[in-house]
Amino acid sequence: MLLASDASRADRRVSRPADAQRTLLGAGELSAIARRLGGEIRRDYPDGVVLVALLKGSICFLADLVRELPGPCELDFLALSAYGDGRTRVRVVKDLDLEVAGRDVVVVLDIVDTGLTLAYLLRLIALRGARSTVACALLDRQSRRLLPVEIRYVGHVIADEHVVGYGLDLDERYRNLPSLEVADEAELRAEPTAMFERLVRR
Ligand code: IMP
Ligand code: MG
Repeated sequence: MLLASDASRADRRVSRPADAQRTLLGAGELSAIARRLGGEIRRDYPDGVVLVALLKGSICFLADLVRELPGPCELDFLALSAYGDGRTRVRVVKDLDLEVAGRDVVVVLDIVDTGLTLAYLLRLIALRGARSTVACALLDRQSRRLLPVEIRYVGHVIADEHVVGYGLDLDERYRNLPSLEVADEAELRAEPTAMFERLVRR
């Protein structure tokens, strides 16, 4: 039975800008991705690997991924910042602590979009003398690629839509959501708390 209050709530739901939002990957699907990719990395590097995670977007993915790698494994972090015209140039704001010379490195990223960040990371780590460097990305948005980059381990290929949650942000918000949500950037900026309201209502 549909109560009057339910009906009005449903109507509100249809008319709210937040309705452009939808869950792309739920918590269960995200753990399954980490399990699959963790298994592949574990098989490919039985003697150990250095995971270099790009801050901050990769934190949730990294936390799930490392727990699927119960073998020799070290962790390090890098943070970059975009600058310049069109923000197409990047610089290091937090450098590696570990010495990666002679090591096998897997770079862990939230999403590869234009490929500029990944290309920069791969070159930086190669210059540090790593024996091998490959990429592992939770998401691959191939349609926006500007630079050809190889991603050895891909979680999920996505369309040209903005995603937040599970570490990914919009203006530093939404990293704490347990699922990955598709949302219109302009609508999220216009109504920044609508996403939380929708998730609580669910
Ligand atoms: P790229 O250098 O264009 O490949 O951009 C990669 C970086 O942009 C990622 O590491 C993210 O931090 C950010 N990014 C790209 N698309 C999204 C998105 O849909 N949501 C949140 N962050 C994104
Ligand atoms: Mg960001």
